[in-house]
Amino acid sequence: MSAEYRYQQLEHWLLKGIQEQRWRLGERLPSIRALCQEHDLSKATVQHALQRLEAQGLVEARPKAGYFVALQPRAVRQPQARVSIEAPRPVNVSELLLDIMSRSAAFDLIPEFRSGDLPPGIVALNRSIGRALRRQRGEDYLYYDEPAGDAGLREQLSLHLARRGWIASPDQLCVTSGCQHALFLALKACCRPGDVVAVESPGFYGVLQLLEQLELQVVEVPTSSETGLDMDALEEVLTHWKVSACVVSPAFATPSGALMPLASRQRLLALAQQYDLAVIEDDIYADTALGRIPDPLKALDQDDRVILCSSFSKCLSRDLRLGWIAGARWHTRIQHLKLVTQLASSRYLQQGVAEFMQDGSFTTHLRRQRNDLRGRRDRLIAFLQAWSTELRVSVPAGGLAVWVELPEEVDTLASYPQALKQGVVITPGPLFSISGQFGNCLRLSFAHPWDDNRIQALNRLPSLLLSR
Ligand SMILES: Cc1ncc(COP(=O)(O)O)c(C=O)c1O
Repeated sequence: MSAEYRYQQLEHWLLKGIQEQRWRLGERLPSIRALCQEHDLSKATVQHALQRLEAQGLVEARPKAGYFVALQPRAVRQPQARVSIEAPRPVNVSELLLDIMSRSAAFDLIPEFRSGDLPPGIVALNRSIGRALRRQRGEDYLYYDEPAGDAGLREQLSLHLARRGWIASPDQLCVTSGCQHALFLALKACCRPGDVVAVESPGFYGVLQLLEQLELQVVEVPTSSETGLDMDALEEVLTHWKVSACVVSPAFATPSGALMPLASRQRLLALAQQYDLAVIEDDIYADTALGRIPDPLKALDQDDRVILCSSFSKCLSRDLRLGWIAGARWHTRIQHLKLVTQLASSRYLQQGVAEFMQDGSFTTHLRRQRNDLRGRRDRLIAFLQAWSTELRVSVPAGGLAVWVELPEEVDTLASYPQALKQGVVITPGPLFSISGQFGNCLRLSFAHPWDDNRIQALNRLPSLLLSR
């Protein structure tokens, strides 16, 4: 007779199945009922075995869907951070970038391939906005909203931020037309033309565009997929050049996907104080966290020098064009700039979103979305690993995309036009830097449902990228 308990026998049988890839990464294990029948076990015994595997991080329970083979981040080869630092210089963003931006900001499939129903969260959001629209009174249409934005929405935002560790009054916030607008206001408020701004490398191309238009110079700071901005490199930069601001995404930076650890956050703020620079926190991906939503860097800011920028674009809808900014010591100037650049935001949209947040629909939406995103991330990584063992791929704990490093000889920029002809919009690595680096890298989104169109598009990628 075996010395093992029956739950242990099942646990080992499942473990062997995972190791031998009977069930691959992201795939569903047999249901509890099927395991009970097949192994002649009680439901409690099967659940006990599955929970033990879950505690070891080998499987993951998804509400109402079952148990899935979980991703083991340490088993995935992650992209390597580049190390070189170059002197600050002006930005000259390519035409190609503008082309990609005009195609739905590079999220993988060209518009005619879009499909699917609205997710329940968006249906609920549309209802809230509809109700706000119907509440409009007689002469509302003749007035602009106040420059800081709707007080009800700012109240909800401050409650949301308080749950993430930053206690702010609604008066410290200003509503913007998206996060790009917030970043513009932040840079404009704390820099003068010719100033130097430190950015993550690879980093968000939207910031590079802003720096070009504001006639600012950029210095790129190496960034890893695991821990984000390299603090030693930043310190070296700060000892060499006078830097006015550092733009950073501590929570799931794009494209690296990094979540900046606490020690790096503390060091960043200490350096900012020592060298007297503004820190512009791009927090747009925080609410897409696959686990607990991380605290903003702003929560550690003792010195009123972190400007927090964010929006609903990544966690809810890009189409709302609603964002916010907490301008810290530059708040008054930022509010003035908001007035100059936008006058006001749409009142009924803001009120609709405030209601959506207040009645709990936003939290429900984020919870549901989290489960979907985790499954999509795991399937994409499993797909990439099956494609080639030479790939390195980030394993972000949030955000909407992975960062892929291909063999040195791959040229993702050269593959862009051919991919486009086949209906795939790739985001080539060089777009995330001004120094021509990352030619063999690519950002790939997992924001979309894993449907036939997407699988077909992804299946075309290996031949598009590796055939050259
Ligand atoms: C890191 C980051 N910041 C800001 C933005 C701009 O966001 P919004 O649509 O809210 O203007 C984006 C959009 O792609 C982004 O990825």
